[in-house]
Amino acid sequence: MFSQALLLLPVVLSAVLTTAFPASEKSLVANAANTESASLAARAAAQPLTLANSNWIWTGEEAGAGGNAPIGSRPFRKTIPHTSTKCPVCATILIATDNLHTLYVNGAQVGSGASFSDAQVYTVGLEPESDNVIAVNGTNTGGPAGLIATVLVDYADGTTETFVTDASWKTLQSAPPAGFENPSLDDSAWIAAVGQGMEGVSPWGQTTLPSALDITQSNWIWTNETSAGNAPVGHRAFRKTVTSPYGKGAVCAKVVITVDNAYTLYANGESLGSGTDFQTAQAYSVPQLDPDQNVFAVDGQNTGGPAGVIATILVAYNDGTSVSYVTDTTWKTTTDLPTGFQLPATDDSTWSDATIVGQYGSAPWGAITVPDA
Ligand SMILES: *[C@@H]1O[C@H](CO)[C@@H](O)[C@H](O)[C@H]1NC(C)=O
Ligand SMILES: *[C@@H]1O[C@H](CO)[C@@H](O)[C@H](O)[C@H]1NC(C)=O
Repeated sequence: MFSQALLLLPVVLSAVLTTAFPASEKSLVANAANTESASLAARAAAQPLTLANSNWIWTGEEAGAGGNAPIGSRPFRKTIPHTSTKCPVCATILIATDNLHTLYVNGAQVGSGASFSDAQVYTVGLEPESDNVIAVNGTNTGGPAGLIATVLVDYADGTTETFVTDASWKTLQSAPPAGFENPSLDDSAWIAAVGQGMEGVSPWGQTTLPSALDITQSNWIWTNETSAGNAPVGHRAFRKTVTSPYGKGAVCAKVVITVDNAYTLYANGESLGSGTDFQTAQAYSVPQLDPDQNVFAVDGQNTGGPAGVIATILVAYNDGTSVSYVTDTTWKTTTDLPTGFQLPATDDSTWSDATIVGQYGSAPWGAITVPDA
């Protein structure tokens, strides 16, 4: 079930140390006893997405930067290149448009939005062995028109690269032609998009970044040991096995999680990180997955009083779709922390189904803080 690519992951990730991280994270990794899993943790916790270096682009039909533009739809395309040594595996796309957008990656529709003040975020699997095309149908319903985006690409070698909206995006001063989103379309005769200023510029002002993931549909889960609101002190193991829907291969994942009182999170046996504040969730990126089956495991610790794990896992598949999995009774749990509980090969079939202690927002936890994408 677990492919060779996954077995090679620790080797691949060691490349991350020298290329992708700021000095602060490198020194963290260098001090860690287990360099390989620590480097996955470093990538997992990195949240470099911002629109600060991106431009508001349009077609040049606008009456100067930020001026009124013709009503109607315009196509935009950006090609993310691949080489024999740089194979793109996953993209996280932050986008806002004045006024509407429909986003496509490699011809598949990924989502749509209708706000210039609140950005949206999408996580999509890419094609490692071909160029990848991001296409946007941007629609102006009146007044100024603009598109702003940041695209963070994970490569198979563990490095990342950021692409922003700028004059390297292609556009047309006319409605999107049929097949404009198709990666094989020849856009060499399209014109360069025109910059109207960076994030924050008038008339758009500061764009609000979205949460990394929606956790409000998730449940607080634990073992069945909670009694009169309190659970025994100690460590408990939790596991969620995500099997890819028929015909789809899993590419990458995002996880948002917090635990009352403390946790360590694992993906396919590798530690991603830990947390100790149930009021503040952490967000993790898992840049590479097994195509068929992936195991997310949590060492949840209760230091007294109520106990709960709450998480949302977004898995991006190789056809442009993604699925969110929330903490619920499909998670398996056990009243101890067995050796190897986090390893994919561990048999959890005799473990119990997790118990839902409460929905997101319920007492005693209330609202929790989720980091930006
Ligand atoms: C572009 O988006 C607009 C607004 O949603 C829609 O009416 C139009 O059909 C779209 N064009 C294409 C080619 O998808
Ligand atoms: C809790 O789960 C265990 C294992 O499935 C079971 O033996 C026990 O009866 C359950 N306890 C309660 C209170 O439901």
